[in-house]
Amino acid sequence: MHLDGQAAIVTGGGSGLGAATAQRLARAGCRVAVLDINAQAAAASAQRIGGIGIACDVADAASAEAAVARAREAHGPARLLVNCAGVGTAGRIVGRDGPMPLAVFERVIRINLIGSFNLLRLAAADMGTLDPLDGGERGVIVNTASIAAYEGQVGQAAYAASKAGVIGLTLPAARELARVGVRVVTIAPGLFHTPMVEGLPAEAQQSLADSIPFPQRLGAPEEYAALVEHIVANRFLNGETIRLDGALRMPPR
Ligand SMILES: NC(=O)c1ccc[n+]([C@@H]2O[C@H](COP(=O)([O-])OP(=O)(O)OC[C@H]3O[C@@H](n4cnc5c(N)ncnc54)[C@H](O)[C@@H]3O)[C@@H](O)[C@H]2O)c1
Repeated sequence: MHLDGQAAIVTGGGSGLGAATAQRLARAGCRVAVLDINAQAAAASAQRIGGIGIACDVADAASAEAAVARAREAHGPARLLVNCAGVGTAGRIVGRDGPMPLAVFERVIRINLIGSFNLLRLAAADMGTLDPLDGGERGVIVNTASIAAYEGQVGQAAYAASKAGVIGLTLPAARELARVGVRVVTIAPGLFHTPMVEGLPAEAQQSLADSIPFPQRLGAPEEYAALVEHIVANRFLNGETIRLDGALRMPPR
């Protein structure tokens, strides 16, 4: 699919990987709706790229329905959804204060997994109403998992489980949506230079970077955004999860 002139929705677009993606898509000619639970960040990111910022909690059905409706009113039904909203909450299953509160586990699953599905279902329904483009394609959905889905570290039980769910969702979604010409692809990033990591002390950032075989540095959000652009352009990519990690395989802790 060509990006020029298409309507796109980027969740978590107020920061990090989502903000870089929104920027790249806008530069390629997309009309971008930036959805984020942080309304200010969504507005600021959208303003930088001439898009619209919409406050949205991806984990909430009504909030997402309203946000997608607003994006549709402004830009028409989106042909591209990029799910970047997520939280990286860490915690042991049994910590110093006893077992992890179930609500902590539930929240991570709710935002990362159910939130991705929530937007996927709404965007897919809209894409199905659009005319097919060349080759019968109606739209593309890109999800964001994590290499933690494969090599979750101690303290990442909830996060890794949520991201493994996103990977598990990819193929059945691609199979079902094939009928309407919608592709579904997931990116599993390694360690990227975003506000999630920028909050760490410089030595901690360096030691994370040192653990990456090559290139021995954190990933740049623009490299994630570049892969999104390639996924959209390459019509034969479908139903797959792509690692983007400089060959990093995370150790147990
Ligand atoms: N940075 C990394 O190294 C890395 C690695 C692997 C996977 N990821 C994944 O990539 C995605 C983006 O991460 P990032 O590093 O850019 O993080 P980030 O914190 O910079 O951005 C995440 C954005 O999601 C938004 N968000 C959080 N909860 C939300 C909700 N309920 N509804 C709507 N928006 C919500 C936040 O407000 C924030 O703007 C996440 O899913 C994360 O798990 C990041």
